[in-house]
Amino acid sequence: MELFNVYPLFDVTPVSAKGAYVFDKQGERYLDFYGGHAVISIGHNHPHYLHRIKRQLEKISFYSNSIINPLQQELAHKLGQMAGLDDYQLFLCNSGAEANENALKLASFANRRNKFIAFNKGFHGRTSAAVNVTDNKKIQAPINQHLEVLRFDLDDLNTVCSTIEGGDIGAIILEPIQGIGGMNEMHVDGLERIRQACSNHGTLMILDEVQSGYARSGKFFAYQYASIKPDLITCAKGMGNGFPIGGVLIHPSIQARYGMLGTTFGGNHLACAAGLAVLEVIEKEQLMANAIEMGNLLSTSLKSHESIKAIRGKGLMLGLEFNWPVADLRKHLIFNHKVFTGSSSNPNVLRLLPPLTIGDHEVEQFLEAVTQSLKNHSVAL
Ligand SMILES: Cc1ncc(COP(=O)(O)O)c(C=O)c1O
Repeated sequence: MELFNVYPLFDVTPVSAKGAYVFDKQGERYLDFYGGHAVISIGHNHPHYLHRIKRQLEKISFYSNSIINPLQQELAHKLGQMAGLDDYQLFLCNSGAEANENALKLASFANRRNKFIAFNKGFHGRTSAAVNVTDNKKIQAPINQHLEVLRFDLDDLNTVCSTIEGGDIGAIILEPIQGIGGMNEMHVDGLERIRQACSNHGTLMILDEVQSGYARSGKFFAYQYASIKPDLITCAKGMGNGFPIGGVLIHPSIQARYGMLGTTFGGNHLACAAGLAVLEVIEKEQLMANAIEMGNLLSTSLKSHESIKAIRGKGLMLGLEFNWPVADLRKHLIFNHKVFTGSSSNPNVLRLLPPLTIGDHEVEQFLEAVTQSLKNHSVAL
């Protein structure tokens, strides 16, 4: 059988990894400033992560959600404590798209509305329709019968707020820093204005922290630069450092009922062990502070490059905007300097999403590679 060919691939075959580096089958070492798409939070193969997962594997790796799994409670407790959201409730699933599906559904269950707001250049996942074809009315929220989406630009706040004031909007979903969209930020004032409008009109506010969450921005969640409390927060990527796990953090005002949400694999023993290991390392190694320090070091040093038009984002979620498409620069970084970086839907933006454990040495290596590549690029121009 052939693979269903949906991914354009770089000709690199990683076979092992350690910290901020991956190694290919020829033993060549690559600096990972992409984090496997923002997934590697605590570094590849962190010893504590390996230990926790191996220990769990030897006990029990999976049982369905019809039994008590104390690791789920332990994970919820640790996450609540580290994110400063002790009073929230946690629903565990397997991916970012699933977390958003469940959050959107919960919002629609909560206020029975089906008109939602989202933002241009936002990205929230690729799922749809499974629930529509399932013969169980109880698990279908109003949005599963009919969903109307209104879309606005990130800076079109007056229209967003006046639309919410119309009174029939079920929820608004947004990334505090748009990842795939090119690291465009919703500023603190915007978050606070939207929160206010939502609270006044029974609209739920969903923060998609799938990419920006889990210490990447320097706060546990990127929205926490503002003084707001969302109704729903979604996370995935960095939550498991590569083990598939996602979550919805749910405000205490939203009440659960049996059967409202569900999943086969979500919150399994191994996933919880991975999730706990990630939180323990973030705490022990103070990775939020490191994300800020290393992010500042990168931004300050990169500012001196004339060809970088803008640097956006926070902590170790950075976008470098050039006046030209970055596809060749990315290739040059991979093949000539052995450095992985990311692209975005804006062809001129290079995305940096390194593990949160990087130090001065990795930053220097990256800066040297960029400087050399940009010299090459200006010669080529
Ligand atoms: C902000 C955001 N939300 C949701 C998703 C979807 O996550 P997944 O690919 O785990 O379904 C992504 C994936 O890139 C994302 O960046």
